[in-house]
Order: sequence, then C-alpha cells, then structure tokens
Amino acid sequence: MADLHFHILRRDEVTSTNTEAAAQAKRGAAEGTTVVAREQTAGRGRHGRAWASPAGAGLYFSIVLRPRFPVETFPLLTFLAALSVREALQQGANLTTDIKWSNDVLANGRKLCGILAETIETGRGRSVVVGIGINLTRAANANLPSEIAERATSIEAETNRAPDTDAQLRLTLDALKRRYLALHEANGAAQLLDEYARSSSYVFGKAVRVVTGAETFEGATRGLAPDGALRVELPNGELRIVYAGDVNAVRAVGKPEFSLTSNL
Ligand code: BTN
Repeated sequence: MADLHFHILRRDEVTSTNTEAAAQAKRGAAEGTTVVAREQTAGRGRHGRAWASPAGAGLYFSIVLRPRFPVETFPLLTFLAALSVREALQQGANLTTDIKWSNDVLANGRKLCGILAETIETGRGRSVVVGIGINLTRAANANLPSEIAERATSIEAETNRAPDTDAQLRLTLDALKRRYLALHEANGAAQLLDEYARSSSYVFGKAVRVVTGAETFEGATRGLAPDGALRVELPNGELRIVYAGDVNAVRAVGKPEFSLTSNL
C-alpha cells in the first residue's frame, strides 16, 4: 500500500464520530477521512455501552479505513489503534501506558482511552471505522457513576497538565499511519502481534477474570493466538481461547502462577 492521507473534518457536536464517519464512508469518503468532534451526544462504547463525551473533555475521533488485507486481519486494527495511542501518549504527554486486552489504554491501572472499531459495507467495498476516545481532562469522568469513575483517568489527572489536544491527535494519526502501512506488508500481522505482546502486560502471565456473554472464569494469560485472541489457562490446566469479552486483572489466589498483583 502506497500511502494514507488524513482528511480531517472538525465538528462541534455530533451524536457519535463513529456514526458520522460511517455515514461519510457510505457516501464514498476516501480512506483517511477522519471526523473529530468537541462533543458527542450519544458516544458509543463496546458491548452497546455509552461513552460519556462532554464538550472539550476528551479527544473523540473516528477514521475511515478501507483495508486491502483479508477480513480475518480486521480485528488487528484495534490493536493497531491501541499501540498508536500508546506511542502518541508517550511522545506527546510523556505518559507511559499499558494496554488491557483487547484495546483499552490504561495509565496506572485506570482507563484513559477506549477504542471502538466497526466494519461497514459501502458502495466502495468493506470499510472499517476506527473510533478512538481519549480522556483529556478530569471533566471527562466527572459525571460517571463512582464505581466507573474510580477506574478511569485522563491525561490531565496523570500529568497535572492541560494536554495539547491537536498535538495528541496529530501524533496518534502519524503513529497509526505507520502501523497501518506496515500491516499491509508481508509479515505485517505477525510483527504487529509481537509489538502488542511487548506493549501489553496482559498478554503473558496475568491473573485475570474473563467475562464473556456466556460465562465468567479466572485464569492466567498465556499469549495470543495468531488472530489476536487471548489464551487463558484455567487453574485446572485447561486452555481457553477468548475472542471477545471483558478481561480484568485480579489479585492472585491459589497457585504460584496466579500470584501476580495488579492495581485494578
Ligand atoms: C470502549 O472502550 O468501550 C470504546 C469507547 C470508544 C469511544 C470512542 S469516542 C470516538 C468514537 N465515537 C464513538 O461513539 N465511540 C468512539
């Protein structure tokens, strides 16, 4: 793939930048079209949850992509986005973050960024809208229920500085572009998975509780399957492959390999 150019559409208020970017994609918008909004009135999270999006408190944006690789590789786009946000936070805010499988970016164990990727059919083929919400100021979490607010953070809360919103956006897009072009190369998926495994403390040996639509269980993480699914070993040695669900760190109980601690 030759290049990726971002065409930024700024909006004051939208329901959801993902919804707006999807509408743009359906109207034939070029790859790289990016909708950025100061406020979302119906911001969306994963699993049908809402994403609180008060005006100016977060960086809310969605990018239209038209990948040339097979659809099996599409789920890696959320990994790619999380890695890019992580790099941009390091560069722009001097903030070191972790990635909680599959794509939450955490600072000191608290959620700083969420990612929602959605695949849509358009007249120009299948498109993926990658939506990213980064909490900029404390106001992003001010109106959340207390049990959610205490698990969330913002750039301002972590650094005690007002973040440079435009610089953070630009750094994230630059980082995303580099990885997106690389993902189209031979071996691109394997390299991205390697980088992800190096960047996320959740991939190997983390004691976790997994909640899927069907069940809840605890175990220790044992790396990624080639498609990005998370391998989790149960206390009885059985291996589960997790494709979707909430994975949270738990304090260790029982066997030595579960003796890892975490601040979540
Ligand atoms: C999650 O962690 O559940 C994902 C949250 C994704 C939020 C972003 S904000 C920009 C884009 N527009 C949306 O409606 N959602 C994503």
